[in-house]
Amino acid sequence: MNRYAHITGWGYAVPDQILTNHDLSLIVDTSDEWIVTRTGIRERRIADKKESTASLATDASIRALHHAGVKPAEIQLIIVATSTPEHIFPATACLVQDQIGASKAGAFDLSAACSGFIYALDMATQAIRTGSLDSALVIGSETLSRFVDWADRNTCVLFGDGAGAIVLQASEEPGGVLSSTLHSDGSGGDLLILPAGGSKQPANEFTISQNLHTIQMNGREVFRFATRVLVQATQDAVHKAGLNLSDIHLIIPHQANQRIIDAATRGLSIAPERVFINVERYGNTSTASIPIAVCEAAAQGKLNPEDNVVFVGFGAGLTWGASVIRWSSPFLTRRKIHPARYRLPARLRSFLLRLLRKIEGWIWGNWQ
Ligand code: ACO
Repeated sequence: MNRYAHITGWGYAVPDQILTNHDLSLIVDTSDEWIVTRTGIRERRIADKKESTASLATDASIRALHHAGVKPAEIQLIIVATSTPEHIFPATACLVQDQIGASKAGAFDLSAACSGFIYALDMATQAIRTGSLDSALVIGSETLSRFVDWADRNTCVLFGDGAGAIVLQASEEPGGVLSSTLHSDGSGGDLLILPAGGSKQPANEFTISQNLHTIQMNGREVFRFATRVLVQATQDAVHKAGLNLSDIHLIIPHQANQRIIDAATRGLSIAPERVFINVERYGNTSTASIPIAVCEAAAQGKLNPEDNVVFVGFGAGLTWGASVIRWSSPFLTRRKIHPARYRLPARLRSFLLRLLRKIEGWIWGNWQ
């Protein structure tokens, strides 16, 4: 019997704090006119001190679970695609697992820069299609503002913070994720890099003085690469799904730069109305950009059951990839739980587990 992985819930979370192009022009030598004409970005969201990659991911996940009508305990796998994890370890996905109380889920982070959401979607889809699990939460979450050099006008105007999540569920009904194509080219790793903070260059006085804990980018090369691979990956994924471009209702590309998306739209010879763009309000939120765009496209009535949709992304690595999805609706079988009712049981569970661990440690220590 064939199994399919359907997207049955979606949610996003962005910080309230807005940083406009005008605000940026007070920090670096730039202007609203330059940023809008070169990137299409008008404003981006910036996390405050209380917000983090895990907290945004948790908020987005709760909304996605609520939308799907799925309880956290029904989720069997959590993947957080991120370039700005909370820590090197533990995985941000484990923090989300705890904060939503997904007591039966495995959890791990996936690092493929801005293509991470496409990679994570494919990993979870394969696990569902092979029968290894029935439901997964796939999240893209970032706090890039913490890794931006706020004195570098080449990069600081581009990025923003946010998170998006989807619930994937198994069904025998054909549809859901139809195909994916994933690619990489490590020879371009130096084009977009966060050089220090890993095992090669742990934090020290030199790395801090040289600003090596912030994003470094060769914008022109990344631009050239992006316009080429967005077209190729879209065509490959559509072909793999056994479809033609004319069968595709909507393309949701990684939101990095309006000009990159426009060039890809021309390269694919499709009408601009069939490509979803919201880069003007969020900037580049890396792994979160596609799931945030998915939520907004759905809210605007641009995603309807049976529509064929392409998600396509590119990013550091270099990495790129695309997926074709036949859109589904939530498989609602029961009344939805209010989002507020996800948090309290999760907090209580987490508190009791920590307490139990302390008691066990105390008993163990006294008996040795
Ligand atoms: N304001 C004003 N001037 C600027 C700014 C700014 N914010 N940034 C650069 N400039 C200047 C440059 O210094 C340069 O001046 P010069 O000619 O005197 O040297 C001039 O503008 C033109 O610079 P270019 O780099 O040629 O500008 P370009 O049109 O290529 O746009 C940009 C730059 C927006 C960065 C573009 O190259 C781009 O979007 N590249 C892709 C970046 C991207 O998408 N990265 C994310 C990938 S996904 C991931 O994994 C995170």
